[in-house]
Amino acid sequence: MKRATVLAHEQLVSVLRAGDLAVDATLGNGHDALFLAGLVGEEGRVIGFDIQDQAIESSQRRLTEAGMMERCELVEASHARMKDFVPAEVSAVTFNLGYLPGADQGVITRSRSTLEALNVSLELLRSGGLITCVCYPGHPGGVEEAEEVLAWAVRLPDHFRVEFHNEKGRHEGRPFLVSVWRLPVT
Ligand SMILES: C[S@@+](CC[C@H](N)C(=O)[O-])C[C@H]1O[C@@H](n2cnc3c(N)ncnc32)[C@H](O)[C@@H]1O
Repeated sequence: MKRATVLAHEQLVSVLRAGDLAVDATLGNGHDALFLAGLVGEEGRVIGFDIQDQAIESSQRRLTEAGMMERCELVEASHARMKDFVPAEVSAVTFNLGYLPGADQGVITRSRSTLEALNVSLELLRSGGLITCVCYPGHPGGVEEAEEVLAWAVRLPDHFRVEFHNEKGRHEGRPFLVSVWRLPVT
């Protein structure tokens, strides 16, 4: 069974092209931002969000070492404020919920701002674009958030295609992936 983060990356590969604009809604240590930056190329752009300066610094370091910082903008703000910083339609938005590995596990994503940010992402998403959201029901506070993301996803209108991928069964507290594509208008 594939890991949720691995599948999310595979799906992002199938959507993102050189020159695209992509958003990392939860920068953390910058692994996802680095992956997005590689896909959008020199002409593309990645805008990343995190509320912890430790995450911004860690991501900046990773992207700089890889020579990709120039195509990235790192914003120390909640992803709920995405619209204030993202100037155009986006091809993809990634969420990797939970806490920053190696830091205070009390600082976690919260369902209220996560859902706000997911809704803003729907508005910003271009036709054919993709939102990936990896949920972690295994830590305190994570179950409620994961359940709310699922409830949000199943209520989306028909012009969005939604897929769920369980690593092993979400009731065992395993991470799972929620993917949302905006269907092209035919
Ligand atoms: C699991 S980590 C992300 C991992 C990251 N994508 C990576 O590749 O390393 C979750 C991150 O979400 C951040 N976070 C929590 N609430 C947030 C919010 N409202 N807006 C943006 N980031 C938030 C945390 O500070 C933490 O760094």
